[in-house]
Amino acid sequence: MAKGTTRSIRWSSSSLALLAIAAVALLRTTATAAPTVQTQPLYGLVERLLPKAYHSAFDFQIVSESAIPPSSPKNKYDVYRVSNIAAAGVNATGRGGQPTVLIEGTTVSALGVGLKYYLEQAAQVELTWSGNRFNELPAQPPRVPDLELDSGNVVTTGHVHGSFVPWRYYTNVVTFGYQFAFWDWNRWERELDWMVLNGINQLPAMVGQEYVLREFFRSLGVKDTDFASFFSGPTYQPWSRMGNMQGSWTYKLTGAGTEADELAYKNRWIDSQWALQQKILARLDGFNITSVLPAFQGFVPRALKNLYPQADIRNSSTWSGFPIQYTNVTYIEPTDPLFAKLSIDYLKLQDKLNNGHRSHHYLLDLYNELIPSCLTEACLKAISTAVSKTLQTADKDAVWVMQGWFLTAAAWNPSRGKAYLQGIQEAGGKSFVYDLASDSLPVWDSFDGFFGSDFGWSVINNYGASQGLFGKLSEITVRPYTAFSQYPNTLRGIGVTAEGVNNNEFIYGLTFTFPWANPDQPALNVPKRLEQFIQRRYGPSRANPQVQQAWKLLSETVWDSRTGKPTGSKSYIEKPPALNMTDPNWLGTIFWYNKTTVVHAWDLLVQSGIAERNAAHGRPLPKSYVFDLVDTTREILLATVFPSIHGSLIAAYNRQDVAQIRAAGRQLLEVANDADRLLSSHPLFSFGSWVKEARDSANLPLPAGTTPAPSFNRSRFQQFLESNARNLVTWWGPESAGLADYGSKQWGGLISSYYVPRWRLFIAQLELAAQQKRDFDPAAFAALVSKHETAWQDQRWGDRNNESWASNGYDSIDLVRQLWVKYAALAAKIAATED
Ligand SMILES: *[C@@H]1O[C@H](CO)[C@@H](O)[C@H](O)[C@H]1NC(C)=O
Ligand SMILES: *[C@@H]1O[C@H](CO)[C@@H](O)[C@H](O)[C@H]1NC(C)=O
Ligand SMILES: *[C@@H]1O[C@H](CO)[C@@H](O)[C@H](O)[C@H]1NC(C)=O
Ligand SMILES: *[C@@H]1O[C@H](CO)[C@@H](O)[C@H](O)[C@H]1NC(C)=O
Ligand SMILES: *[C@@H]1O[C@H](CO)[C@@H](O)[C@H](O)[C@H]1NC(C)=O
Ligand SMILES: *[C@@H]1O[C@H](CO)[C@@H](O)[C@H](O)[C@H]1NC(C)=O
Ligand SMILES: *[C@@H]1O[C@H](CO)[C@@H](O)[C@H](O)[C@H]1NC(C)=O
Ligand SMILES: *[C@@H]1O[C@H](CO)[C@@H](O)[C@H](O)[C@H]1NC(C)=O
Repeated sequence: MAKGTTRSIRWSSSSLALLAIAAVALLRTTATAAPTVQTQPLYGLVERLLPKAYHSAFDFQIVSESAIPPSSPKNKYDVYRVSNIAAAGVNATGRGGQPTVLIEGTTVSALGVGLKYYLEQAAQVELTWSGNRFNELPAQPPRVPDLELDSGNVVTTGHVHGSFVPWRYYTNVVTFGYQFAFWDWNRWERELDWMVLNGINQLPAMVGQEYVLREFFRSLGVKDTDFASFFSGPTYQPWSRMGNMQGSWTYKLTGAGTEADELAYKNRWIDSQWALQQKILARLDGFNITSVLPAFQGFVPRALKNLYPQADIRNSSTWSGFPIQYTNVTYIEPTDPLFAKLSIDYLKLQDKLNNGHRSHHYLLDLYNELIPSCLTEACLKAISTAVSKTLQTADKDAVWVMQGWFLTAAAWNPSRGKAYLQGIQEAGGKSFVYDLASDSLPVWDSFDGFFGSDFGWSVINNYGASQGLFGKLSEITVRPYTAFSQYPNTLRGIGVTAEGVNNNEFIYGLTFTFPWANPDQPALNVPKRLEQFIQRRYGPSRANPQVQQAWKLLSETVWDSRTGKPTGSKSYIEKPPALNMTDPNWLGTIFWYNKTTVVHAWDLLVQSGIAERNAAHGRPLPKSYVFDLVDTTREILLATVFPSIHGSLIAAYNRQDVAQIRAAGRQLLEVANDADRLLSSHPLFSFGSWVKEARDSANLPLPAGTTPAPSFNRSRFQQFLESNARNLVTWWGPESAGLADYGSKQWGGLISSYYVPRWRLFIAQLELAAQQKRDFDPAAFAALVSKHETAWQDQRWGDRNNESWASNGYDSIDLVRQLWVKYAALAAKIAATED
């Protein structure tokens, strides 16, 4: 309390010199105060991320709300103030061991954003997935500048900001499959640090929930053998949790063993994930990030029907063309008393196993891409009422969190949605709906802001964790504020629901700045923010006008899609080869941007990158700079050059010109192999990294006291993990069916081992058809492709020539330069004919 008083004296009397001096004296005594339980984790973060000179630079203080008046009345949540400790005219720099930067906040989350604000404004650095420039920080922590970079305002009494929504959330459940599946604690720890800096204070905590489910079902008398057809492999758990699919098929593909062996691998996996979850939960507690815990979803092993023959246990609808044994998931109808009983018991067990970690937020998606058993309003309301009462019985403060995605399905309309959501309110319950894809398929606007439920506005931007350069800047920078103006009492969160990371970092970073603008006058100066982002990313001295121009052009093209497209396009290379590759669908192949502009931006960026590298005399460029050079080169080669050569190939086939088919075919494969070599040089674009992560996850620690079965074969376990990793980015299922190539990737290694052989077969079939003066035979081609793909599912990475892990050892920038020399003129020519 005394500290709050100190602050209010200091800030309300800045014009009175005498009092100010007194306040500074007081500050000196508090500045060295020991970190509290609440602030200690932030000091830990600083020590993990920043150079030594910064470890004692910060004084983090939790203060009362009255101590910092918010900058605008609506920005009242998580308010922080960043200032120099020597506020009264004494320069703070250079005091060894003494904090010089004061970061006050009303919550831990506010302090995290305050720290990010300092790093950005004073030091112009930022932590992103592709890298950071913390190694280039000034030797002494710079003072907090008086000028606010964004607004240009002069601030002398500390920089104050607050959020207009109480919640900033991150991820969607499928990210736990597409991206997080094989992460270890080190990688999670880094992501959690990133979350704190980005102000995230709500996170679905989905890791390891199968452990609770398994223990729970065992306690009901379900036999372990009944789990084989229920639990899925590591990369498929999200869809299993949502009742879309169940079981696994990899043992059939890999020769990893029998179904019983595979069950042992799954159990081992579940155990290790539980150990990981304990660390995640403890860190969430440290950072005061609210976990959204799994609720009992009602999806059960088929055998449960035998244990409860009287209960209303049914099979759900099929999903995504999956064979029936892997879908039509068995579930307990939520209105049956058994659902309530099991929910409550499950939550009790989870609470016990969580060992002190608590939350009142529960994730429960009953109908994600599933059709409810009834669709009358009365029936839907009865279901949500029953479930809400159950949650409240288990925890009187329960908040039912759900992803609003289910409402995008044809079965739902506003009156059904209203009945379902209002059923919760009528039962006296609380709910929070993530409008999962406000950027591409917003539900809030057609479903009346979710009819009184709290909700969040979010950006996906990359379905299936796709990588293409993509964004909808002109929409996303406006719409959250529109939503808030219409639903000021219930729009209570802004989130990023990306399905994968390592792409489009500006878009995601920017989204997490939306909550900190004044919602009445958001005044987001996007060009200015982009400039500052590039300065932080490359370093102010490297962010020359050419580089800034390149990103300005990209922000007006790749990041400003206005065609209604929901997500980045796929390159032809990732799709099964065909005569006509034009695909206007969901993850189609249509490019919306002016290719001439994008090629020009690439020229500017590559030329600057090469000049910068030459000037650096062997010192490496910032990692994010290298990432961008690789990423834009990828886009040019695969989105501009490759499709155009495909056009020449098909034209030659149409003329039955065998020589030209060969020539175009050779050129097509050359582009593919060039792209592959480049992408294989960078760990964030390499298939080897993904497989290594999968295989290494065999070594994740187990919970204390767990002993693996004596017959356990680690090498087969690793093969099981690898086949899960391979399958997700290719077939996405037990066979090449509905979801094939949905999770495809423009990755080095995947191109050479999976896509190139498909294209080689295709070219050969075209050539054969032309030689024999007949039409290309799609069925014969499909049979050959299927043979290749089936064999590939079963392979082990590293067994063949040139299969490298994180990197093939080439220098990425050298390759970028070579490819630019080779393709720049061609790319410009192609662009000019297509625009
Ligand atoms: C503090 O540092 C700034 C920037 O280096 C300088 O302009 C100013 O004169 C210094 N003030 C004092 C009181 O030393
Ligand atoms: C912890 O988080 C909750 C929920 O956001 C918030 O109400 C509380 O004030 C926070 N406490 C601290 C110390 O950050
Ligand atoms: C659910 O599907 C399984 C497997 O297809 C089948 O054996 C079972 O009879 C079905 N159960 C119900 C209640 O329809
Ligand atoms: C599987 O789902 C379909 C589609 O909802 C349904 O018609 C069929 O009866 C289900 N099959 C079983 C075995 O439950
Ligand atoms: C290729 O497919 C697209 C989309 O299905 C279609 O609109 C177009 O007419 C087709 N082109 C040719 C040459 O058949
Ligand atoms: C594409 O961009 C180029 C160069 O910036 C410009 O000359 C051209 O008119 C643009 N094309 C279209 C269709 O806007
Ligand atoms: C484990 O499985 C591998 C691959 O199938 C096999 O070569 C090896 O002999 C097995 N090891 C043991 C100890 O059984
Ligand atoms: C492996 O890479 C080398 C260059 O590093 C290349 O010459 C060779 O053709 C590649 N081999 C295969 C099988 O791709």
